[in-house]
Amino acid sequence: MTATDRPITRLLRGLPSLAGPLPAFDPDTAPDDPDALFEDWLRDAVDAGVIEPHAMTLSTVDPAGRPSARVLILKNLSGGLWQFASGSASRKGKELADTPWAALTFYWPVLGRQVRVRGAVVVANAENSARDYLGRSPSARAAALLGRQSEVLHDPRERDLRLAEAAELIRRDPALVAPEWTLYGVRADEVEFWQGDHHRNHVRLRYTATGESWTTDPLWP
Ligand SMILES: Cc1cc2nc3c(=O)[nH]c(=O)nc-3n(C[C@H](O)[C@H](O)[C@H](O)COP(=O)(O)O)c2cc1C
Repeated sequence: MTATDRPITRLLRGLPSLAGPLPAFDPDTAPDDPDALFEDWLRDAVDAGVIEPHAMTLSTVDPAGRPSARVLILKNLSGGLWQFASGSASRKGKELADTPWAALTFYWPVLGRQVRVRGAVVVANAENSARDYLGRSPSARAAALLGRQSEVLHDPRERDLRLAEAAELIRRDPALVAPEWTLYGVRADEVEFWQGDHHRNHVRLRYTATGESWTTDPLWP
């Protein structure tokens, strides 16, 4: 069997991408601020029925420069700060403590749209992290209270036990806050909007921070 005869190869080669129909994007009508364009595109994604349009890939690097990526939920966007929350003891938390730079990537398949964000990572103060934590459901708070995200799980029974204990602690004290829960923000210095095209004539617009404002550049597809 040659490499191209393998079932997975045939499956992959047979899958369509950017099949469309896809919307048009005219960069000349784009707002001056990438936050505004993101909000427009997010609303389009919601209207188009994209499931979890606020899910994004967060990319970080370890001390050797090796990248790792995972999906998170965008919690807020304001004044160029893209916020998400997680435990500081997790792999991403450790990597961000060591190298406070990150990239975020959104992809909305039915619209053929991608948004890419890069920037320095800032950590919110304890009060704002606590507010984010207390806004989560009781089960999500219990899971975060364990503070062991990304550790090796040796015994699922121990997890279930600790989870039940955490749920009980929260039931007794609803104001309890997980000490490691952290609200992070990417202070964007670059945001790119990518509109896919079935014929591969994709339209790309990059915003680059220049002091208090943004410059925009169209990019080759
Ligand atoms: C749709 C979706 C949303 C997620 N949202 C979060 C989130 O907001 N915060 C979080 O810590 N993990 C979230 N996760 C789990 C992460 O992808 C990841 O598994 C976890 O944070 C551990 O990552 P790490 O080991 O790189 O630190 C989400 C996963 C998915 C698929």
